[in-house]
Amino acid sequence: MKSVIFYYTGTGNSLWSARRLAEKLDGATLRPLKSADPFEAGDADVVGFVFPVHMWGIPGRVLDFLEKLAVKPDTYYFALAVNAGQVSRTLLQLSGLLARRGATLAAGFDIVLPSNYIPWGGPGPEERRNELFLRAGEKINAAGSAIAAREEGQIDKGPLWQRVVFTAIYKMSFKQVPKMDKDFWTDDRCNGCGVCVRVCPAKNIILAAGKPAWQHHCEQCLACIQWCPEESIQYGKKTPAYQRYHHPEVQLKDVIG
Ligand SMILES: Cc1cc2nc3c(=O)[nH]c(=O)nc-3n(C[C@H](O)[C@H](O)[C@H](O)COP(=O)(O)O)c2cc1C
Ligand code: SF4
Ligand code: SF4
Repeated sequence: MKSVIFYYTGTGNSLWSARRLAEKLDGATLRPLKSADPFEAGDADVVGFVFPVHMWGIPGRVLDFLEKLAVKPDTYYFALAVNAGQVSRTLLQLSGLLARRGATLAAGFDIVLPSNYIPWGGPGPEERRNELFLRAGEKINAAGSAIAAREEGQIDKGPLWQRVVFTAIYKMSFKQVPKMDKDFWTDDRCNGCGVCVRVCPAKNIILAAGKPAWQHHCEQCLACIQWCPEESIQYGKKTPAYQRYHHPEVQLKDVIG
């Protein structure tokens, strides 16, 4: 069995999940969706996608990638949709996309980890975060066994009301995402280090007179605000009071690299 796992991550939860899964899948290759040419999986017969749920659906970068990916009908496709408790229709959306390309999502798992959506608050108390890491690790282990055995059929989803209401919001909000960066600003702790420029997967930040300037092709991954070493980036009015978050076992160099 030759496995490839494509992953996208803002704050490391999806990278951590992908790594955990790769350990279970003996020698799976990890490929970030930042690399120049990730659109084919070579001779892999097991191909996975690990990505965060954004606004109750698949993030734009992952959609673009899936559109360009060379898919094969006899490949075993699986996914981990990494989220903060509301996976909604995300994995069904992925299943539909692959089906339209003549392929099948054999298995899709909902992995719940601390929230990185800082406009709505911090990642929660440490005790709760540790509980989530533990449970997610157990679920990834179980997913790994199911994938290794090429089991088919499990596609996790949220409750019906969530799929109806939130899918409508996803569709309405999707086009707004690139310009949502207009609410970012920096406080006087910014020292012009440029980490935000380097961590942005969309090359959406430039330094102008030593301060970040957002260029309105944002993906809302929130890497910039969460990884700023000075915690100087803010979003709207409330984030000065909210704790920053990235997965504790993932470092800045892992995300930039
Ligand atoms: C723009 C945005 C939208 C999000 N929307 C959802 C959502 O709809 N449902 C959910 O459960 N979590 C949502 N989250 C939380 C992330 O999915 C979650 O924290 C995930 O673990 C982050 O993964 P990462 O660290 O790999 O980026 C959202 C996060 C961001 C940045
Ligand atoms: S990472 Fe933070 S401190 Fe560094 S340039 Fe960006 S905003 Fe300023
Ligand atoms: S500007 Fe910030 S939130 Fe937007 S894509 Fe870049 S790192 Fe992510």
